[in-house]
Amino acid sequence: MIVLGIETSCDETAAAIVRRFDDKSDNQRAGQGEILSNIVLSQIEDHAAYGGVVPEIAARAHVEALDGIIKRAMLEANVTFEQLDGVAATSGPGLIGGVLIGLMSAKAIAAVHNIPLIAVNHLEGHALTARLTNDAPFPHLLLLVSGGHSQILLVKGVSDYERWGTTIDDALGEAFDKTAKLLGLPYPGGPEVEKAAKNGDPKRFDFPRSMKGRDGYDFSFSGLKSAVRREAEKTAPLSDTDVNDLCASFQAAICDILADRINKALLAFKQRFPHLDSPQLIVAGGVASNQAIRATLYAILQKHEAELIAPPIALCTDNGAMIAWAGAERLALGLTDPLNTTARPRWPL
Ligand code: KG4
Ligand code: ZN
Repeated sequence: MIVLGIETSCDETAAAIVRRFDDKSDNQRAGQGEILSNIVLSQIEDHAAYGGVVPEIAARAHVEALDGIIKRAMLEANVTFEQLDGVAATSGPGLIGGVLIGLMSAKAIAAVHNIPLIAVNHLEGHALTARLTNDAPFPHLLLLVSGGHSQILLVKGVSDYERWGTTIDDALGEAFDKTAKLLGLPYPGGPEVEKAAKNGDPKRFDFPRSMKGRDGYDFSFSGLKSAVRREAEKTAPLSDTDVNDLCASFQAAICDILADRINKALLAFKQRFPHLDSPQLIVAGGVASNQAIRATLYAILQKHEAELIAPPIALCTDNGAMIAWAGAERLALGLTDPLNTTARPRWPL
């Protein structure tokens, strides 16, 4: 099964071709996937001057770039439209202008070539990526941390999710981006904060660990961001060392909060599924590329004799392969969508 995937929900114009091996084939790779091409055009430079994504600029850039990106994905995969079994596009959640552009393009391809359309929830794209790169049977736990979302989910199957926890204010990527901005670091802030933190002292500032020790699995990051602002104002003018120490202390607080929540979630998961030998936690979304966060999660998972699955960094940030793959997983179950499917700015999993 060969699927074209299109992603335009934020500031990446992306298209990819992914193959999913038939569930029933004798092939040892039954149910597994292979990326035939994965083209991502970042708009970061278009938005950098504004310190964040400007929806109108993003939508115009998608219109200009998308046709060429799809063509490149097809050429690189050496696949023709006639060979496609389906076309998948992010249909939400995201910036509505961009989502519409990707979805309309997918609908046009589906209509002209008479192939199924798969309207993919962007979050499901992140959630299922680990099944493209690893052996990740259901059920498993998922920590989804991106620019717009911070959630702990129980993944029971394709299209079958139980949300255990979410953020009550900022998303984790948003907290990284806002903290970077207030410290004068460029956009997108996550990788910049991580870079600065590597040279900083994580113990210099004692930032709050919101929600730590509380019942449930929710997150809260806005108090932490405000605490960084207060310390930055007190310490100003900031030297490079101050910025590095603020970033390191901020990141250490994040790691502590994640450790607390994931520890609790794993205990509950193991209680609910005692028959599973090695419970799995999948970490997905742009923030999952943070090495300090990955190291924290590895340590906890080792304690629980559980397995951490973290997709390669290029597949953690937004890309077309994750949408093509989620499309292929849905298509394999017959989950296709009509051509009058609408784009959804909000769409919880
Ligand atoms: O998943 P993604 O590419 O787009 C969304 O769906 O939101 O995630 C982007 C977010 C941004 O907030 C970015 O700052 C954050 O992921 N991010 C990171 C790192 N790389 C990207 N945050 C922390 N550390 C990183 N290394
Ligand atoms: Zn994303």
